[in-house]
Amino acid sequence: MWRPPQKIKWKPNPGDWPSAEEASRSLLFSPLNAGPFRLDTRTWVPAMVPWRATDDGFVTQDNIDWYARFAAGRPGAIVLEATGIRDIPSGPLLRIGHERFVPGLKKIVEAVREASGGETKLFIQIIDFLSIRRRPEPAKYLGQYLRLTDRHRAALGMAGAAEADVRARLLQLAPEALEQVLDARELEGLRMGDRERVTDMHLPHIRELPQVLPDLFAGAARRAREAGFDGIELHYAHAYTMASFLSAVNDRDDGYGRTLEGRVRLPLEVYRRVRETVGDDYVVGCRFLSDECIPGGSDVEDATHFGVAFARAGMDFLSLSRGGKFDDAKQPAVGWSAYPYTGPSGYECMPHHVSDEKGPFGRNVEASAHIRAAIRAQGLGTPVVVTGGVHGYRQAEELLASDRADVVGFARQSLADPDWFTKVRSGYGKAVNVCIYANYCEALDEKHEEVTCQLWDRVALDEAGIRKTKDGKRRLTPAAWNAPTLP
Ligand SMILES: Cc1cc2nc3c(=O)[nH]c(=O)nc-3n(C[C@H](O)[C@H](O)[C@H](O)COP(=O)(O)O)c2cc1C
Repeated sequence: MWRPPQKIKWKPNPGDWPSAEEASRSLLFSPLNAGPFRLDTRTWVPAMVPWRATDDGFVTQDNIDWYARFAAGRPGAIVLEATGIRDIPSGPLLRIGHERFVPGLKKIVEAVREASGGETKLFIQIIDFLSIRRRPEPAKYLGQYLRLTDRHRAALGMAGAAEADVRARLLQLAPEALEQVLDARELEGLRMGDRERVTDMHLPHIRELPQVLPDLFAGAARRAREAGFDGIELHYAHAYTMASFLSAVNDRDDGYGRTLEGRVRLPLEVYRRVRETVGDDYVVGCRFLSDECIPGGSDVEDATHFGVAFARAGMDFLSLSRGGKFDDAKQPAVGWSAYPYTGPSGYECMPHHVSDEKGPFGRNVEASAHIRAAIRAQGLGTPVVVTGGVHGYRQAEELLASDRADVVGFARQSLADPDWFTKVRSGYGKAVNVCIYANYCEALDEKHEEVTCQLWDRVALDEAGIRKTKDGKRRLTPAAWNAPTLP
């Protein structure tokens, strides 16, 4: 992962913890009632992919155990990991693109209800993504994958030459010479792996995204309701299709790009189609970026425009993230795909404890608060979920008390200790395992390995009945926490 050059080491500083009595009077542990969007507390576990699905996208017992473990800590809400809306192979990521995925998802819903005593709401994040290839062996790319055209032949001075001869010549070229022959996309294909973009208008399936996606999202939303989820989070963030429509680099010329209105058009059309399908009494919100954090990308003013448009359209909540783009991702090793959290924008999304003067805690607060204030200025009360580096009670309570957030997201902190909520609420904040923001979890995510936390994955490995990672070295969920009985 990219790190700021300042390399300033930050330590988490959760501050002091409240007594149970103070917590009971807090905003953080107070309910939120906004139409169908109702939470028992204003605490939120944002979507995190744990890499536990089967290779064809079905729920496993490990998925069920994972969410049940989070639910045992009783956050106000959990958002189930990014779940694909299409019925196409996409590796071990959960899917909801067909009815056959519903029974497995239902089991997660039931497990969360049971483990939280019905207290925790469960939303599902639904996602569309475009195809991305692994970084190829140069010999394969130049010798096989690259589509040869007359442009290549002309650049090589080989007009009319046979394909095999042109490829043989390409394979001999030094990297600098290749730069004179291949265009920018081809060089990217060689160095990073080919990646589709929403602006690839020459590809029919990309041109047709605005016609296809509303129904795909709506079908997924209908299935989510059928499976018993309390609502839906449309994934409009990070490096994926819908965020790419919102992006300032979207220059589609079909009315779905270029201007702010054009870029937000498809996200609004998707939302409306979903709303028509699930009805007004079902929770539908979205996650989007307060800032893309890439050169030439959408900034906080663009995001403010989108936030107001989503709120006006009737979304039930807005959850803000930042960065996490392919545009500035690091070159992957041969055989691996680019990972959108490896560049400066990735740093903004999941900031590491080695940081700059700003530090890794609360980097998303200012931009999110700005967007929220603009929504309020329009007379709209849409709840805003703010996430990023939150690990302490005072920090979270202050976000609510200062009117900068309505709900507080704890992603890596809840992974480090899913009992954060129960512990803090019951006056046992001192027992919290505080996240150290070393991004061990994120490194596992990058390798597509089962995500765990170094604070607990090798503790009590001999505990009876626990499930472990495929290599048998790590436990898949933290040990249960039993509140000490008072004397
Ligand atoms: C292992 C891992 C997987 C993640 N997967 C998702 C995801 O599926 N969807 C999403 O919107 N964000 C995802 N995120 C980002 C988090 O939801 C969150 O925005 C980010 O970690 C910053 O919050 P934090 O500082 O509280 O961890 C993931 C983060 C981690 C660490």
